[in-house]
Amino acid sequence: MMTPARRNKLRTLLWFVLMKWTATLVIVNFYLGSMISLEEIENSVLRLMQRDRFVTFEQPESDPMAHQNRQYKADKQPPEVDEVMGRTGTMSGVVTPTKLVRDITPNLKDGTLQGRERLWEMLTTRNMTQVDAEYWSSIPTWDEILDNIKHSGDRQNALPIIHGLDTCQAFQNKTSSDPSQRRIAPAGLFNSVLLEFNCQNPNRVKKFKGNAKRGHGNEWEVPWGKHTPGSERGQYLKNQKIKYTIDEVLPVVLIRNPYGWMKSMCRHPYTAKWGSMQNKRSCPELKRGGEWNGVEAKFGSGVTHHKSLAHMYNDWYGHYYYGSHTAAEGTQRSIEAPFPRLIVRFEDIIFFVSVLDYVCISCTALTPLLH
Ligand SMILES: *[C@@H]1O[C@H](CO)[C@@H](O)[C@H](O)[C@H]1NC(C)=O
Ligand SMILES: *[C@@H]1O[C@H](CO)[C@@H](O)[C@H](O)[C@H]1NC(C)=O
Repeated sequence: MMTPARRNKLRTLLWFVLMKWTATLVIVNFYLGSMISLEEIENSVLRLMQRDRFVTFEQPESDPMAHQNRQYKADKQPPEVDEVMGRTGTMSGVVTPTKLVRDITPNLKDGTLQGRERLWEMLTTRNMTQVDAEYWSSIPTWDEILDNIKHSGDRQNALPIIHGLDTCQAFQNKTSSDPSQRRIAPAGLFNSVLLEFNCQNPNRVKKFKGNAKRGHGNEWEVPWGKHTPGSERGQYLKNQKIKYTIDEVLPVVLIRNPYGWMKSMCRHPYTAKWGSMQNKRSCPELKRGGEWNGVEAKFGSGVTHHKSLAHMYNDWYGHYYYGSHTAAEGTQRSIEAPFPRLIVRFEDIIFFVSVLDYVCISCTALTPLLH
């Protein structure tokens, strides 16, 4: 027979083992949970960038999941991309996963490359070797895309539009005493995809002897927060511990077509609120009963009010676009930049793979990492 003391000891031990297992399970669950959401995020970004849809990569051929992944991606059309390509909702219905049957390599001989050379070139830089024939034929030509994204000028040598390159000199002047402090950081309103730059500031690389932990000049967001209005620059700091000044950060603002942006806001309003926002049919309902339908939006720095969702867009980007000066009648807007910054269009990010290189080298003495 076990003595009561021994029984107690055993009970404690069993209890301990049980608790330990439970704790381990909880931790494993958390870990798996975070893995899944990370992967999901990565997938949705990939889907959005439209870089691996309906296409065959070199190595995943041996991957038994490849076909399944492809279907998964095909199921979920990124509406932002369709919008840029000038497609309507019915178009996405035409391309269904079940029709993914014939992979081709577009070529000039059978005319499958004609007018889409530039697009195929972009895909091949991502190591794509084949594409579904039907899907490929549904893609607009490069000229049609340039028309859609309102890109005028030289068609063959079209370059991405980067607004604000004229403010580079001011940025360089302000940071000339210590160029190794120069950084680049993204900003954008809710529902604008944020960039992850692959830029390095050679001055930083040299100073820290390539120690990447010290950062090579890409910040995750501007110091006042990626979604925070630009008017908070110099007023509000999201992270108090940063070891650089706001003048040492060049914001790169990502901007979308306002119509597409409003459509996305109707689906994912984040912290913005306005009357009848839940009504899918009437959203964004800029006016109600003849009056502007006011919007309230919450940011880290506080709450802002706007006459309507369209006004919110103008107000938010206006802080990055317009300078202001005090005139006799009060504050007026001017087209002088409020501070050095670059503004890049969402469309250009999609169709000019090189846009990030341009941004990197444009005015920060940052060089593309991948060169
Ligand atoms: C494409 O393939 C080359 C050679 O195999 C490799 O070095 C490169 O990293 C690949 N690029 C991408 C974007 O996967
Ligand atoms: C930058 O500095 C140079 C040399 O001091 C000066 O000539 C130029 O006007 C400055 N530019 C700006 C935009 O501050």
